[in-house]
Amino acid sequence: MREATYPRGFPDSWYRLAASSDLAAGQVKYVECLGKQIVVFRSEDGKSVTAMSAFCPHLGANLAGGCVKGERLECPFHRWQLCSDGRVGKIPYSEKLPTRARQETWPIRERYGQIFIYHRGGGELNDCEQAPPYEIPDIPEVDDGRWVYRGRHDGKTVRMHLIEFAENSVDFAHFAPIHSEMFVPWTGIKVPGIKVEHEADWEPDAEQPHLAYFKNKAVLHVLGRLVERTRASALITFVGPGSVVTFRFKIPDVGEIIMFQTHLPISAMEQKVDFLWYADKTIPRLLVSYVVGNWVSQWAADIDIWENKVYLDKPTLAAGDGPIHRMRRWYKQFYPTVEPDETAPTRLAVLV
Ligand code: FES
Ligand SMILES: [Fe+2]
Repeated sequence: MREATYPRGFPDSWYRLAASSDLAAGQVKYVECLGKQIVVFRSEDGKSVTAMSAFCPHLGANLAGGCVKGERLECPFHRWQLCSDGRVGKIPYSEKLPTRARQETWPIRERYGQIFIYHRGGGELNDCEQAPPYEIPDIPEVDDGRWVYRGRHDGKTVRMHLIEFAENSVDFAHFAPIHSEMFVPWTGIKVPGIKVEHEADWEPDAEQPHLAYFKNKAVLHVLGRLVERTRASALITFVGPGSVVTFRFKIPDVGEIIMFQTHLPISAMEQKVDFLWYADKTIPRLLVSYVVGNWVSQWAADIDIWENKVYLDKPTLAAGDGPIHRMRRWYKQFYPTVEPDETAPTRLAVLV
């Protein structure tokens, strides 16, 4: 029932399949997500990663049980080998290779310790040779070594739709009731006597339509008194519809932290949520963990709401609500309209 109220299908976007360190050279992994069954594997030399449909074009064996040979994946059944572009590269008992058979494959990038695929949800087969409309943005401070890897947290799978995460950022009226408590970082334990006051803003990028920025400023009230020096800010960038989101936390006079929060739809109503972060080398690790843990506690405070709500096409809004309709119009771009086809699963969004 809840699912039927949400936009249908999976939006076009970059999605994080795995952390780089979870896929060793020559390793194959099976991932069910985005309504697909996918195998992702790393070449024997460790340099390249491929994502393709899990079922062999020959007689349908699951390639996850196969093994990597150079840059190819060998099927466990009749030992056909598939190339990283999805073509058949070798048949042990036949010289003649099928030229037209082509596995579904995805454009893939390995950046900042993570493996991303670009998925088009339109019902046509994905193709690694079809260039994605945009890339995962560069982080110059990480590229030049000023900021370094400081950790990851494999979150949980949350029974929510992807759009809820984006909608949360424009739902300014929920900050006071849901996010005004201070928690012991990484836990749901409230810190008594401290309240968090938020100021929020949201806007799409003027030139790159796939980006949107959510700005949050927070300050603490300790025993009822505002403490100015606790003022902190975060710039949250949506790279697409909420599947890849970066948080820049600025700690005045100390430095910056950048954290990825990624959502991978296992199904329309299940998001696997992961966190991975880099920080200025100079920030003490404990402080980095404190800041990230603070965010993760605040994120977790929304879960109960997300896991039980529906999506209203026509919400009843009041003065003080954030730019919910504006965000929904922005979100529509990730569901490009396709020709209706009775036989194909429809993916047209029911967005306002
Ligand atoms: S099913 Fe894969 S080689 Fe036959
Ligand atoms: Fe929230």
